Amino acid sequence: MRIGVLTGGGDCPGLNAVIRAIVRKGVPQYQYEFVGFRDGWRGPLEGLTKELDIPAVRGILPRGGTILGSSRTNPFAIDDGVERIRATLMNLGVRALVAIGGEDTLGVAAKLHELGVHVVGVPKTIDNDLSGTDYTFGFDTAVGIATEAIDRLHTTAESHHRALIVEVMGRHAGWIALHSGMASGANVILIPEIPFDIDKVCQYVESRFRTQYAPIIVVAEGATPRDGTMELAAGEKDAFGHVRLGGIGESIAHEIERRTGKEARTTVLGHVQRGGTPSSRDRWLATRFGLHAIDAVHDEAWGQMVALRGTDVVRVPLSDATENLKTVDPALYAEAEIFFG
Ligand code: F6P
Repeated sequence: MRIGVLTGGGDCPGLNAVIRAIVRKGVPQYQYEFVGFRDGWRGPLEGLTKELDIPAVRGILPRGGTILGSSRTNPFAIDDGVERIRATLMNLGVRALVAIGGEDTLGVAAKLHELGVHVVGVPKTIDNDLSGTDYTFGFDTAVGIATEAIDRLHTTAESHHRALIVEVMGRHAGWIALHSGMASGANVILIPEIPFDIDKVCQYVESRFRTQYAPIIVVAEGATPRDGTMELAAGEKDAFGHVRLGGIGESIAHEIERRTGKEARTTVLGHVQRGGTPSSRDRWLATRFGLHAIDAVHDEAWGQMVALRGTDVVRVPLSDATENLKTVDPALYAEAEIFFG
């Protein structure tokens, strides 16, 4: 049987570990052949493939990115997108697809499943905002990178008596900001789930300066001020209608300087958080997801996604994972608030 594999959305440390595990189990245990589709949903749309056998996955476990390439192509935004995908699968004799992705890629997979395409999902995102799974791989690596960056920025903040703002990823969910901010002792953490009060932020900054210790503000890129109290730049949209974010850190720095008279600088971590080698925990989780995904294909568990519950890998309907995003619970945020100011 021939199985297609694709990776969609933003790249994420651990994608190669999933691909490797799928092939390393699927070939000897189930005698499957694999077709790698390039660049997310663009692959099956345009018939772009890559050989995917055991030699092709040797040595990729510690490598970041994805050997298959990725894109944010949305086949449902193209008139005959679904028909073209069906035709490619038919022509290549591909009986089922393993789609590795976040909310958008798995949202497409869920819709294709409803239209009769055989698909199994694997959740990935550094943002950790997919429902149905306790964690996604990539998150641990991103939090580690952000924490290390914030630790390093402390020395500049202290030496130059500056407020430093660190903008991390997280469009709708503040998981990276919360975890890295807590791990690095941030002065205040700002997340998309809870609109912030810039007056309060400035009070925290001033109180931290009074203790002779420089403030570090960790802000998720999707965080917003309360009641439109600050101007924010509008961004372009991608094929799934998401605005390209970035800039909240700069706006906050500007407001802090204006309101407190202290120097404030911003560091935008951006794609550094998604780059490079995955942490050992992400390699472990991604490998287990790959092993369980190919078992799900063997069991014909179409429309299901592998997910972590505690230490078990289970299966959940793709729709459970994609209907609502998993956002930060206010009670968790309240735990972190103890350390603000
Ligand atoms: O979904 C993962 C993510 O890293 C988001 O946190 C971020 O908003 C987005 O991708 C950025 O995507 P791109 O690299 O396409 O600009």
